[in-house]
Amino acid sequence: MAVIHGKKEEDRKRALFLDRSVALLCPSILSSDLAHLARSIEELGDALDVIHCDVMDGNYVPNLTFGAPVIRSLSRYFDKPIDVHLMCRRPEILVEDCARAGATTLVVHVEAAAHIQSLLTKIRELGCFAGVALNPATPLESFKWLLPDIDMVLLMTVNPGFGGQVFISQTRQKIVDCRRMIDESGYPIRLEIDGGISTDNVADLVRAGADMIVAGSGIFDTPSPKETAAEFQRLMRGAKAKL
Ligand code: DX5
Ligand code: ZN
Repeated sequence: MAVIHGKKEEDRKRALFLDRSVALLCPSILSSDLAHLARSIEELGDALDVIHCDVMDGNYVPNLTFGAPVIRSLSRYFDKPIDVHLMCRRPEILVEDCARAGATTLVVHVEAAAHIQSLLTKIRELGCFAGVALNPATPLESFKWLLPDIDMVLLMTVNPGFGGQVFISQTRQKIVDCRRMIDESGYPIRLEIDGGISTDNVADLVRAGADMIVAGSGIFDTPSPKETAAEFQRLMRGAKAKL
């Protein structure tokens, strides 16, 4: 993973995001060995499409992780897009720093942002793709009036805050409904899912309509993260081909 910076590199990252014929694997570094973060990411090789960073503030969720400094280091070191999932009470105070640090996408919780429509507009103005995240109990209706303002929807398939939780089964139907809502809207929006995803359920969830797959423990807590990530890719490609 070369360290290249410049417009061409940014265009390549954006093109990957925009090609919705391909489902993207977004390993969540929350579950990686943070003492050897770069090595954990490098080990996955080309099976990793996008680096998923969970920014938690110890307030919106009862856990504290990392922020712009870590995003900056990752974006300088890796040539992969960086997907920033803000689980924070006041995302508006963080988006600018995260964008300048090299975030490709910035995802804010619809339950947390005070004035989400203007925040999404600001995220796009900062040059990032704008995403809304929904907790498992939050209805799809919550982003209906934001469809023109978003590039992605992140459906939480566990409650936010921690890696290693069990997939909440009723969110599968929510993925199906969300895919229909996106397709009917005609807007080019990616559907990301996050939490409890493993090689056991990923193919079924891609068939349900997801096209960005976040996986933490399902990759990093397996005997060979590299082989597991490659298996994820194989399952995702197979499921996408059958759609
Ligand atoms: C949870 C985070 C997830 C988490 C997923 O709040 O948003 O990205 O890392 O972890 P797994 O894949 O282990 O459920
Ligand atoms: Zn996440």
